[in-house]
Amino acid sequence: VGTVRLAVIPGDGIGPEVVGEALKALAAVTDGSEVSFQQTEFSLGAARYLETGDVMSDDDLAAIAGHDAILLGAVGGAPGDPRLLGANIERGLLLKLRFELDHYVNLRPTVLYPGVTSPLAAPGDVDFLLVREGTEGPYVGNGGAIRVGTPHEVANEVSVNTGYGVERVVRYAFAAASARPRKRLTLVHKTNVLVFAGSLWKRTVDAVAVEFPDITVDYLHVDAATIFLVTDPARFDVIVTDNLFGDILTDLAGAISGGIGLAASGNINPDGRFPSMFEPVHGSAPDIAGKGIADPTAAILSVALLLEHLGLTEQAQRVTRAVAADIAERGDAKRSTSEVGDAVVARLGAL
Ligand code: NAD
Ligand code: IPM
Ligand code: MN
Repeated sequence: VGTVRLAVIPGDGIGPEVVGEALKALAAVTDGSEVSFQQTEFSLGAARYLETGDVMSDDDLAAIAGHDAILLGAVGGAPGDPRLLGANIERGLLLKLRFELDHYVNLRPTVLYPGVTSPLAAPGDVDFLLVREGTEGPYVGNGGAIRVGTPHEVANEVSVNTGYGVERVVRYAFAAASARPRKRLTLVHKTNVLVFAGSLWKRTVDAVAVEFPDITVDYLHVDAATIFLVTDPARFDVIVTDNLFGDILTDLAGAISGGIGLAASGNINPDGRFPSMFEPVHGSAPDIAGKGIADPTAAILSVALLLEHLGLTEQAQRVTRAVAADIAERGDAKRSTSEVGDAVVARLGAL
């Protein structure tokens, strides 16, 4: 309640297009309420890099960190764009924000909304929450290469897993499972091959499970998890996994639940020391950018996650209900970005 300072990073490609619609929904749901959002826009991403040569300065980072929450569209150019070689926008901007703001929980819910046609013949009742570790794994940049460009090149990417980092995200996942009716938690890893990290994750889950006797815990290797996500996704309730497995599984989760244009996420700093960041799971989609056809639903549902995180539960539920009602009515009809946003806004007025 009061004023929320919101940092907005529209980013590249379809990022600004979907963020525009998400902000319309945010304005509609907070219109006339006690809470107001004071927005600061940060122009960061590939476009800014091409103009100025820098990805994100320390001043940008400090300014963003001074906000209560962050809404991000998508950053990054077309994969392989030669002008962006060496810039690594993803690492210097998106991952830097996740690491510096200690977003150790990357929350990625998957719901198959009524009205959505899944590419699966018999998806069942899909409603699961993937809790992806956000600050460790192969993402930390603990790698290097030697003899680059020679036939003897060696390229290493080391996955970093700390007892501290694994335990805190596992605890979060158990607490999340406790708050859900089915009370199931699935650890996904690759303990048969990645024996050191796998052992740490497995032992941590087993140890924390003792404190949560009402949670049913199981384990799947990541390759088998992809099978079940396609053959029986309704079996999942909460999934906890590392940074890279979580990245891959959540694009698959988006695909089976009506498309990546519906998949929302929150990069959470549960301690509240730093602002959490909300963004669609998808990227800048250079193939459809500028056409006005990107689905803004994922960005709008990310606003719902943002509101929920800020304790504005009633507003969060209104956004989710408006989106669900919109999807139920319009189904898979092809609509423009603003048509979807306008339809949700109209429902927010009515709800
Ligand atoms: P992408 O998610 O941008 O696109 C994959 C496919 O999904 C494309 O065919 C695209 O048109 C489609 N798609 C994505 N969002 C959509 C939407 N809202 N509505 C309809 N269709 C949608 O993945 P990519 O092509 O691998 O990556 C493009 C760029 O985005 C890269 O530079 C990548 O690094 C970056 N990226 C950024 C983020 C982020 O900022 N969070 C996430 C993923 C990828
Ligand atoms: C995502 C994206 C990012 C990730 C990239 C762009 C760094 O794919 O948010 O899923 O791998 O986490
Ligand atoms: Mn991804």
